[in-house]
Amino acid sequence: MKLNNLASSLLSLVAVADAASLTQVTNFGSNPSGARMYIYVPDRLQTNPPILTAIHYCTGTANAFYTGTPYARLADQYGFIVIYPESPYSGSCWDVSSRATLTRDGGGSSTSIAQMVRWAIERYNADRNRIFVAGTSSGAMMTNVLAATYPDLFKAAAAYAGVPAGCFYTGTVAGWNSTCANGQSIASQQVWAQTALDMYPGYTGPRPKMMIYHGSADTTIYPQNFNETMKQWCGVFGYTYGSPQQTLANTPSAGYTKYVYGENLVGIYGSGVTHNIPVNGENDLNWFDGIKGGSSTPTTTAVTSSVPSTTLSTSTRTTTTSSTSAPTPTGCTSQRWGQCGGIGWTGCTTCASPWTCTKLNDWYYQCL
Ligand SMILES: *[C@@H]1O[C@H](CO)[C@@H](O)[C@H](O)[C@H]1NC(C)=O
Ligand SMILES: *[C@@H]1O[C@H](CO)[C@@H](O)[C@H](O)[C@H]1NC(C)=O
Repeated sequence: MKLNNLASSLLSLVAVADAASLTQVTNFGSNPSGARMYIYVPDRLQTNPPILTAIHYCTGTANAFYTGTPYARLADQYGFIVIYPESPYSGSCWDVSSRATLTRDGGGSSTSIAQMVRWAIERYNADRNRIFVAGTSSGAMMTNVLAATYPDLFKAAAAYAGVPAGCFYTGTVAGWNSTCANGQSIASQQVWAQTALDMYPGYTGPRPKMMIYHGSADTTIYPQNFNETMKQWCGVFGYTYGSPQQTLANTPSAGYTKYVYGENLVGIYGSGVTHNIPVNGENDLNWFDGIKGGSSTPTTTAVTSSVPSTTLSTSTRTTTTSSTSAPTPTGCTSQRWGQCGGIGWTGCTTCASPWTCTKLNDWYYQCL
C-alpha cells in the first residue's frame, strides 16, 4: 500500500511536470494577415476532440485570454482543444473593418483564423461537428465576422460585447468605426442580414448558432450594438427581431435577461453590466453542443455524423469555474482588463493593483 501511495504520488508529480501549456504554432499554413496562433491541448483529450477558438479583446494577447477566461480550465475538465489567435496589429485589435477580412478567403485576419482552425482539425483529427468560436469585444466582433465568412466551419458562437458583422467597416485594416462603436449604425434586420450573407455569397448550407452577450452600461461598444447584432442574426435565421419566443429574467445569472429567438439565436443582456462583461464559461459550454463529450449531438449540419467521443472520467481539477459575477461598480477601481478611461467613459479611472490604466485609443483605456 505504501509503495502504491508513493508510486501514485510520483505519478502525479510527473503529471504536473508534463502539464499542458499554451504553445505557439508557426506553421499552420497560409497566413495572409500575419496573425499568431497559440493552442492549448489538454493532457487528456477526447477522441476526435472538439475545438474552441477563443479570441481576445483590443490590447489583448493569446496568453491574456488564456489566463483571463475560464476556457482552458474547462478544456482540462472536458478534454477539448482551445485555439487562441493573436492579433498582428498595433493596439492588438482585430481587423474587422477591411473589405478583405469581411470576405470569405479574402486574405484578412478572418482568413488567418480559419486557417488555424483548419490546421488544428487535421492535426488533431478533430470532430468537424464540434468546432466553436467565442470572443470578447474586438474578439466578439471577429466572432460575428467569422460566423458570416466561415459559416461552414463553426457550429456555434458566443460573442461578448461585439458589433454586427460588417458594422465596423472602414475600408482600412484594423480601423476603428466610431459610428458603429457608439451605437449609431442602425439598420433593419434585412439590411444587417444581407451584410452578413454578402460575406460568403451563394452559400446556402448550415450556419453556426449564435449567442450574443452585451451589457446595458457598455460605453465602449454601445449597447445598441446588441440590438443591431440580434437583428442581423434574426434576419439570417428568419426570426422576427423584437419577438423572441421566450424572455427569461435573471438568466443565466442574476441581472441578465435571456432572449430566446429559437434554437439558432439567443441574446443575453446584462442590466448595468459594462464593457467589462465577464465570460460565462459554463453557459458557453452548454451552448456548444457536444463540447463536453459523451453524447455529441450534431445539430445544424448535414455532414457526416460525428464520431462518438470517449467520455473522460470526472474532472482532474477541483478549481471552481469563475462564472458570471456582478459587474465592477463605478466609483471605485477597475479590475484587470477592465475599462478605465476613454471618450464617453464615466466609470472608474484607476486600476486595482498591480494593473495600470493603459491607453489603447481615444475611446478605450484598459487596466493591464
Ligand atoms: C462605419 O460603419 C458604418 C456601418 O456600420 C458605415 O455606414 C460608415 O460609413 C463607417 N464609417 C467609416 C468611417 O467608414
Ligand atoms: C435593445 O435591446 C434591449 C434588450 O432587449 C432593450 O432593453 C432595449 O430597449 C433595446 N433598444 C432599442 C432601441 O430597441
